[in-house]
Amino acid sequence: MRKSTTLRQLELFEAIARLGSFTRAAEELFLTQPTVSMQIKKLTDTVGMPIFEQVGKKIYLTEIGQALLQCSKGISEHLANFEMIAADMKGLKKGKLRLAVVTTAKYFAPRLLGSFSQRYPGVEVSLIVTNRERLLERAANNLDDLYILGQPPDDANVVAEAFLENYLVVIAPADHPLAKVKNIPPAKLAKEPFLLREEGSGTRIAVERLFEHLGLKINMRMELGSNEAIKQSVIGGLGISVLSRHTLELDLPSKQFVMLDVQGFPIKRYWYFAHPAGKQLSLIAGTFVDHLRQASRTNKQSTETAKSKTVTKKPSAQKRK
Ligand code: PGA
Repeated sequence: MRKSTTLRQLELFEAIARLGSFTRAAEELFLTQPTVSMQIKKLTDTVGMPIFEQVGKKIYLTEIGQALLQCSKGISEHLANFEMIAADMKGLKKGKLRLAVVTTAKYFAPRLLGSFSQRYPGVEVSLIVTNRERLLERAANNLDDLYILGQPPDDANVVAEAFLENYLVVIAPADHPLAKVKNIPPAKLAKEPFLLREEGSGTRIAVERLFEHLGLKINMRMELGSNEAIKQSVIGGLGISVLSRHTLELDLPSKQFVMLDVQGFPIKRYWYFAHPAGKQLSLIAGTFVDHLRQASRTNKQSTETAKSKTVTKKPSAQKRK
């Protein structure tokens, strides 16, 4: 049955059963009489027994025809339900967004998800937070809809787009001897005990590349598995470190550590959203991408407004002189 019966045949069969006439069913479905007869013959052959019987001029369903009608109605109902689900998903009323981000992105990604959820409350969102290496493993296994990371791999298997600036800063305990020094030469960093993220962390790769670029060797004091552990260890006086500024927002007001004024810092990087090349983004994932792009534009605008405000303040300050 499943191999040879078509949905079109069942639709025709239901129409004949409802209208009690081959001719009227043909008219309703814009089919010719021979096509109707041929399709019903095929369906009858597939069933292996007559599905209609004619008494006088009237057409009736046989017993097996009745059973087939029940089955056919069930199929139509399932399809109609599916169509509703699909329509809802197209309207973004329902569905799922599976986002996976690197540990450092957890300081801003939940807020972006929050504003997205407010806009599309029927969308169920899930957020996986893991380091860069594990994130790339997940991407290779196509486990999520979208990824956010600081440094997409340089291969053609990943499609990535930068959407947010990411500044790397040097942090030290508030009472560090360099805390108030201006324009610290980077070479001084190599003398300080340094706290480094674990292998596989994107931050670690960025810091290692940076030291290599500067021709400096990291004086590693300790390796730690999270940004939070690094911050606490810096506060505890175990050493200095380089972290994304995003990790510090909530802690800066406590003034327990400082950002050192090292030449060349902050280092500007970007946050990217990414997905495996060739992956067809779901409608919801595509809409989230638009949301990220919009957030990026808003962020740029507010940075520019903040800059222009600083500029307009300057002349009045000069006037006062
Ligand atoms: P991480 O990644 O959280 O694994 O350190 C950060 C980044 O990719 O910049």
